[in-house]
Amino acid sequence: MSEYLYQKTNHYFGQLASGTEKYGMAELQELGATNIKPGYLGVFFCANQRTIYDIVYRTRIFSRILAPLIVFDCHSEKYLYKTAQNIDWSDFLTLTKTLAITSNVADSNINHSQYAAQILKDAIVDQFREKTGERPSVDTRNPDLQLNLYIYQNKARISVDLGGGSLHKRGYRVESVEAPMQETLAATILRLSEWKGERTLYDPFCGSGTLLCEALMKQCNIPAAYLRHKFGFLRLPDFDASVWNQVKTKANAEITEMADELIKGSDISADALKAVRTNRSALPDVGKIKVRRSDFKALEPLENTTIITNPPYGIRLGDQESTALLLKEFGDFLKQKCTGCSAFIYYGDATLVKKLGLKPEWKQPLRSGGLDGVLCKYELY
Ligand SMILES: C[S@@+](CC[C@H](N)C(=O)[O-])C[C@H]1O[C@@H](n2cnc3c(N)ncnc32)[C@H](O)[C@@H]1O
Repeated sequence: MSEYLYQKTNHYFGQLASGTEKYGMAELQELGATNIKPGYLGVFFCANQRTIYDIVYRTRIFSRILAPLIVFDCHSEKYLYKTAQNIDWSDFLTLTKTLAITSNVADSNINHSQYAAQILKDAIVDQFREKTGERPSVDTRNPDLQLNLYIYQNKARISVDLGGGSLHKRGYRVESVEAPMQETLAATILRLSEWKGERTLYDPFCGSGTLLCEALMKQCNIPAAYLRHKFGFLRLPDFDASVWNQVKTKANAEITEMADELIKGSDISADALKAVRTNRSALPDVGKIKVRRSDFKALEPLENTTIITNPPYGIRLGDQESTALLLKEFGDFLKQKCTGCSAFIYYGDATLVKKLGLKPEWKQPLRSGGLDGVLCKYELY
């Protein structure tokens, strides 16, 4: 069995949304990573085996954690195929396991990501066919082995995706609404809000409840991958089941109970409320999240509360004019009914910030899921 790059160096790469590198680096530090350095749309870091399992299990912000197998100069498709065939893929796969490849290619002789992924896949399945006469299958939805191919300026990196797919899929979202927020974005917003459970958190546009569920997971120390069944690190040749069991047992033992009525939300849509009730059923202690159907204008005044929310932003939901009016009315609601509260508002469209009619204390651009959004903080005196 060969020794792969991650084994020789303990080097890994975490992918996250553009603009969130700083928060990802802070999270990695808390989780015990070392040599943490920013990269393109992600962060390089070092970790030992126990720590890397822990990072994959607990990270709230990263969408993928990648373990590099090889890095090589790659100027042609032929060379990619040949070099990929030098890896003994039976270290990672058997004929009964499935495979999928994500790829990103930029500024290189090979200039088509899909095509590059296809070549890597051919190299893998051809190796099996030559040895056994049969080939493993591709399953893009729920593969056993998820690989990542990255080629930048003719330097290629082939990695195993240790989460086995994007980590924003926590497993609690069974039903969705029209414009749900990505879970990793919701977790980043919560981190920036610095809410630590010291007072009530309220989301008056809760939709399918992503911010509420992420708040619960954070408050109760529920590992972000608690509901995940498959992990890519299970396919690594040096996977150690006893270390993984210890990591998981320790993390799960740290789950705490939540105080009643700490996390609350409302939404005008009956479908959103149905989605939030279905989604939250999977998480421990989730019954303590209180949600109800209401227009924000009909809410009682909020006292001593942290408001964290994502109002409609007029791209996919409703039109620009009605969104502008809704935000103006929401600004009036904050001024008149929320004195003494703080509000953290994520606008999916940064041009909407001025429609609220309140001056933010700070603004932080946060791009995610195709949205060029911004988070703003308001102190309501
Ligand atoms: C961008 S979505 C929120 C998505 C949510 N963060 C999630 O992850 O599912 C905005 C939500 O505002 C709700 N909404 C629109 N007008 C409202 C109003 N006047 N009062 C309360 N909720 C409203 C919509 O039903 C929608 O669910």
